[in-house]
Amino acid sequence: MESVIVENLTKTFGNFVAVDNISFSVKKGEIFAFLGPNGAGKTTTIKMLCGIITPTSGKGTVSGFDIIREQAKIKQNIGYMSQKFSLYDDMTIEENLKFFGTIYDVGKDLKKQIEKVLKFVEIEEKKSTLVNSLPQGIKQRLALAAAVLHNPSILFLDEPTSGVDPMMRRKFWGLIYNFAEEGKTIFVTTHYMDEAEYAKRISFIANGKLIALDTPKKLKENFEYNVYQIFYEDYLKLFNQLFHWEKTKEVALFGKKIHLITYKNVTEKEITNFISTLNYSNIIVEKIIPSLEDVFVTRVKKNTTE
Ligand SMILES: Nc1ncnc2c1ncn2[C@@H]1O[C@H](COP(=O)(O)OP(=O)(O)OP(=O)(O)O)[C@@H](O)[C@H]1O
Ligand SMILES: [Mg+2]
Repeated sequence: MESVIVENLTKTFGNFVAVDNISFSVKKGEIFAFLGPNGAGKTTTIKMLCGIITPTSGKGTVSGFDIIREQAKIKQNIGYMSQKFSLYDDMTIEENLKFFGTIYDVGKDLKKQIEKVLKFVEIEEKKSTLVNSLPQGIKQRLALAAAVLHNPSILFLDEPTSGVDPMMRRKFWGLIYNFAEEGKTIFVTTHYMDEAEYAKRISFIANGKLIALDTPKKLKENFEYNVYQIFYEDYLKLFNQLFHWEKTKEVALFGKKIHLITYKNVTEKEITNFISTLNYSNIIVEKIIPSLEDVFVTRVKKNTTE
């Protein structure tokens, strides 16, 4: 069964196209990641799916409700964690949840629900702490708790881990998995490539367009270029020379490692031959399986320059 279906969804602001004719669907219980750079159109898409803004054209359903005609129903049936922290700094964790529960009309089960979600996101021992004294990772867990208070079947999380340290990010993804195991559908946006790997399927969005959509494994397997990892002490100098080499499709730095992306017909031998004309020694070149970042960077470039 599908939790989300959209067809030709578009949102314009004046002449500017923020979301450009995108179509996709998300299955019930799936973790679906929306990955894209700043300004790609992630938040605008989420807001259309959550019934907060109305599409300019196109159509869609969320949990079976029409995103244009049944926005109020959608709001009751989904959980939404916005990109901007929207809870009250001068209230405690528990007070925030009580307040939220009243708005969402959780009803007589509110107390029980609060206890349950606090346990779920593992912050029950902090429930009497003022929000403004909490680290970002805990604030984000509180925001997640607030989003699931009314027990929605689908959760929209807009960059839930931004500003959160790596340990806490991993923890947060553990919580997301737990929700998915309960049968909830998760639609999550992120900037972080490593996080997108946790998702069942990933869609790349850039300049409002969907430029790829598949499982992390398939995205890498179906990549139509070769990726070579190169180690060399003076990596910046070599990087510059590879940047200007006619056989280079793309070149990127990962720390001190160089990733060289070429057409399939470029061999390791050609690369070492080219490098030897530069009179370097002690260079290691190895063909590797592409990382998601390799795939993403190349796809975005292809989409914006061709
Ligand atoms: N209400 C609005 N009026 C005009 N332009 C807008 C409006 N909302 C968003 N935009 C523009 O639409 C584009 C997409 O914005 P959006 O917030 O969806 O991107 P995003 O992928 O969520 O980016 P980020 O990673 O920074 O959160 C941006 O160029 C933004 O400036
Ligand atoms: Mg955003």
